[in-house]
Amino acid sequence: MGIIGKDVLTAVRFLRQGDAVGLPTETVYGLAANALQPESVTHIFEIKERPLFDPLIVHIGQLSDLEKYASHVPEKARILAQRFWPGPLTLVLPKNSVIPFQVTSGLESVAIRMPDHAMALDVLQHLDFPLAAPSANPFGYVSPTSAQHVFNQLGDKIPYILDGGPCRVGLESTIISFTEDIPRILRLGVITREMVESCIGAVLLQVHGGSNPAAPGMLDQHYSPITPLHWLNRDAVPEDSETGFLCWTEKLEGIPDARQWILSREGNFVEASANLYAYLRELDEGKFSMVYVEEVPEEGIGMAINDRLRRAVK
Ligand code: TXA
Ligand code: MG
Repeated sequence: MGIIGKDVLTAVRFLRQGDAVGLPTETVYGLAANALQPESVTHIFEIKERPLFDPLIVHIGQLSDLEKYASHVPEKARILAQRFWPGPLTLVLPKNSVIPFQVTSGLESVAIRMPDHAMALDVLQHLDFPLAAPSANPFGYVSPTSAQHVFNQLGDKIPYILDGGPCRVGLESTIISFTEDIPRILRLGVITREMVESCIGAVLLQVHGGSNPAAPGMLDQHYSPITPLHWLNRDAVPEDSETGFLCWTEKLEGIPDARQWILSREGNFVEASANLYAYLRELDEGKFSMVYVEEVPEEGIGMAINDRLRRAVK
């Protein structure tokens, strides 16, 4: 049975042994293990019950490590790394030979990011290898944004969960690929397309569903709670007393507070992102027969929030 703790050196010791541990980052908690050791990487897939075709992100502790794991770093990728790292941005680059194919699911590219969390960086600084870390949830479920979330689902499968408090960002990193001439955003996050384009000029957006093996995180149904989710229409609020609601800024009239969660009363996307997954989990634990979620404005970070809601709605 795993334990939750705040001791960086305990996490380091398990990681050096080849074990997988729960690791806090600013986006969501990761399930981390030695990215250079195929057995450790394979263990991550087993714990998550993740299909082997879904590649992992490699986490590094300093900018100069980028060159150690990517065979080529285009100028635009370097500009983004300098601007946004440490931070919620993942770069997909041609891999070099030290990265095992178990990490990349056989792809010639590798996803790399430097997380913006003091404990994660502290762990990485103690290690002489990078950490492969997908979100620390069973495949297909909502990502964890607290150590307790990780414990609830994976506590019996990993020895240690490093508790770095609730995740500040709450949404997975923006992923941008440099494997073709024009950079492509594969997953939306709090670093928006506008922010990326203001640094490096035009990029493509390729975040559609389907079973595209280059971006399996973009599978249509992903991040799904167990309780069926539907879109909320404020003009036709269901009267059934067993339903729960996830609203954008405003309460629904005539519905008890115990059945409704508000993403952000001020309409603040940053606050809404930080709340989203914890609220989806609370709603899932609320034993509702159905949960209705409200779309947020389709702009800036709101696009990333809607993207996650769309994948969760059945
Ligand atoms: O914020 C985050 O990115 C979190 C924290 C823990 O860092 N990690 C995370 O990992 O969200 P995960 O495994 O849940 O999502 C990683 C996504 C996958 O959907 C995968 O398809 C994509 O990254 N990915 C990884 N390597 C790739 C590659 N070489 N080419 C294209 N997509 C890749
Ligand atoms: Mg994930």
